[in-house]
Amino acid sequence: MEPESRINKDAVGDPNEKIQPSSLPPPPEFNLDHYQQMLKQTPKMVIIFAAIALSCLVIYHSSITLPFSGDYMRPYISGNHHANSNINVGQLSRILKSAAMDNNTVIITSLNDAWAEPQSMFDLLLESFRIGNQTQRFLKHLVVVTVDQKAYARCMKLHPHCYHLLTDGMDFSGEADFMTPDYLKIVWRKIDLLSKVLELGYSFVFTDADIMWFRDPFSQFDKDDDIQISCDFFNGNPFDLRNLPNTGFSYVKSNEKTIQLYKFWYNSSMTYPGIHDQDAFNRIKSNPFIRNLGLRIRFIDTTYFGGFCQPSRDLNKVCTMHANCCVGLENKVHDIGIMLDDWRKYIKSVANQTTTDGYRGSWTIPQLCRGSFRRPRSPKKKAGQGRKS
Ligand SMILES: *[C@@H]1O[C@H](CO)[C@@H](O)[C@H](O)[C@H]1NC(C)=O
Ligand SMILES: *[C@@H]1O[C@H](CO)[C@@H](O)[C@H](O)[C@H]1NC(C)=O
Ligand SMILES: *[C@@H]1O[C@H](CO)[C@@H](O)[C@H](O)[C@H]1NC(C)=O
Ligand SMILES: *[C@@H]1O[C@H](CO)[C@@H](O)[C@H](O)[C@H]1NC(C)=O
Repeated sequence: MEPESRINKDAVGDPNEKIQPSSLPPPPEFNLDHYQQMLKQTPKMVIIFAAIALSCLVIYHSSITLPFSGDYMRPYISGNHHANSNINVGQLSRILKSAAMDNNTVIITSLNDAWAEPQSMFDLLLESFRIGNQTQRFLKHLVVVTVDQKAYARCMKLHPHCYHLLTDGMDFSGEADFMTPDYLKIVWRKIDLLSKVLELGYSFVFTDADIMWFRDPFSQFDKDDDIQISCDFFNGNPFDLRNLPNTGFSYVKSNEKTIQLYKFWYNSSMTYPGIHDQDAFNRIKSNPFIRNLGLRIRFIDTTYFGGFCQPSRDLNKVCTMHANCCVGLENKVHDIGIMLDDWRKYIKSVANQTTTDGYRGSWTIPQLCRGSFRRPRSPKKKAGQGRKS
């Protein structure tokens, strides 16, 4: 049932890149331990909701930046997603420099063709920055990482900072199914890239393109933490490693500790061939290597950084909303459209009230996303348009 646990023993990486035995994370535990622990501590209503949602989380994970089709049973073929790191550091530094805030912080997202097409995710993302409360000013600090030529071309049309991430000269125009070798290559290339960004001295907010921005997130970040990560489900304790993180949104300060974390995380793709970045993170987060770094990890509250799994209920507080717990680009785009309408209505009614006391607004989402992981897939779209499950 759980694709990530179906590790192909034959899939080994480049032997030259094997990590030191001393730094090997513990053997992969079955992920459900973690979920069961959380369920024990959670009120009944939440358990029911969580149990349904978790089955989707495990299978169709939501941290991903690319459309996926749920075609997760495809065999995992090659363990070598470390294949030739060919990040163009010169070009990357130039883009980071021109996009960074005074304090060397950038905002990073990533896109492929299907998500970059007109009326799709990229347009919605840009729109949210424009209609969010004082979020438009962050657009000039947003670096868009594209994984195929078409997405790069569209990005260049609309946005000043686009970085084209090449992977072995391959082009991923929307054809990277969840958990296939191509998909894994892309997610691990992303971790590699973020590691480079930290090494170049830039702190970043990484935000999946299906996360809408409504308010300044920096006001909610803690100055003392090295890494702050959003959650699919937040259990109330920001330092509890048993929270269910969603690495699709994170704020990471550039320092020696976080650089080591990202290297270790990237290396873990060799330790656990065939799993994606977020599951790897879940497996390494309590590793002694990480503990010894003395890194401060904070899980951020869904009250401010919500999603379809656990929405931020109070529109007076929401900073970002993630279309997580949702399968299918069309479903996401549809529901995010409604989410932006809800926000516009909220802004209007706030503006039209003498006092905002007690007015919290309300979301009418998720709609198509609700239960989207249990519906059969619609037929594939024409080639080049990307799989829209
Ligand atoms: C928008 O931000 C400004 C400045 O922080 C604040 O005064 C105002 O109340 C905010 N509006 C809403 C709707 O949150
Ligand atoms: C960096 O600058 C931005 C924009 O001025 C600000 O919102 C943010 O809080 C700053 N971050 C830190 C860590 O000082
Ligand atoms: C990652 O792997 C490389 C190559 O094997 C190794 O040199 C490095 O020490 C590892 N880094 C961490 C933090 O595990
Ligand atoms: C404000 O609310 C009143 C009463 O609900 C409505 O008649 C009016 O059109 C609203 N004004 C705006 C600008 O939305």
